[in-house]
Amino acid sequence: MTTTAAPLLDVTGVTMRFGGLTAVNDVSLTVGQGEIIGLIGPNGAGKTTFFNCLTGLYVPTEGAVRYRGTVLPPKPHLVTQAGIARTFQNIRLFANMTVLENVLVGRHSRTKEGIFAAILHTPRYHRAEAESREKAMELLAFTGLADKADHLARNLPYGEQRKLEIARALASDPGLLLLDEPTAGMNPQETRAAEELVFAIRDQGVSVLVIEHDMRFIFNLCDRTAVLVQGQKIVEGDRETVQNDERVITAYLGAPLEDSTPAVPETVTETDQ
Ligand SMILES: Nc1ncnc2c1ncn2[C@@H]1O[C@H](COP(=O)(O)OP(=O)(O)OP(=O)(O)O)[C@@H](O)[C@H]1O
Ligand SMILES: [Mg+2]
Repeated sequence: MTTTAAPLLDVTGVTMRFGGLTAVNDVSLTVGQGEIIGLIGPNGAGKTTFFNCLTGLYVPTEGAVRYRGTVLPPKPHLVTQAGIARTFQNIRLFANMTVLENVLVGRHSRTKEGIFAAILHTPRYHRAEAESREKAMELLAFTGLADKADHLARNLPYGEQRKLEIARALASDPGLLLLDEPTAGMNPQETRAAEELVFAIRDQGVSVLVIEHDMRFIFNLCDRTAVLVQGQKIVEGDRETVQNDERVITAYLGAPLEDSTPAVPETVTETDQ
């Protein structure tokens, strides 16, 4: 007997308007179990806005976002609980907390112990805390940051801050991970290592939707890639389909697809989008 599995993420007709500006225009997209899907497009195309619509930061003007067949509530913490985790284009770490503490914050949505257990320091609380630390240390080992566990997040080099964001996102045990420009500011070696990390994440059973300007990264990794231009999805498919599409070539005129856009280093902030 064959059954058609519903996609893990099913986005139908999502539109996001800000006043007179339509930042995302009737975009549909699916991500299946075990897939790595790319989302590319010129600056201002609506990629981050699309992520914000998926994660409850924005309530789409139109359209629906389903995860495992259920419409997601438009609240970030409920989306995280449902199983979608993300990283941010402008890194959002707690700069003055340690690397380990940052991951423990990401774990919070999966721990059931309440505030009273914490205040009373019940044995169950201690046990849950020990388990959380163990899991966080595993994630730091997985992302190559174990020896930096006690460092303050703000003292990490830029590429490691990106990795820490990924570790923190994974701490919520997601089924789907959304990465918004994970290699921005990384050097070529770090970028290649990030590719391996994304493959390893997929191999652990987590599907990935990734926004990137680095085309080599995208085409090395992704099973399919969707292209957004001025809020609209103009094409979706494999490397050949995307690279040979006239509309994509026009949209990127002057910036050959083989090239990666030079990344602009950013600084740690707790308040940026
Ligand atoms: N909260 C907001 N209010 C008004 N306009 C917004 C808001 N958020 C995004 N926009 C606008 O929506 C458009 C899409 O922006 P978005 O950040 O999603 O693009 P992007 O594809 O992620 O670009 P980049 O590659 O530069 O990150 C832009 O014109 C932006 O100015
Ligand atoms: Mg963006």
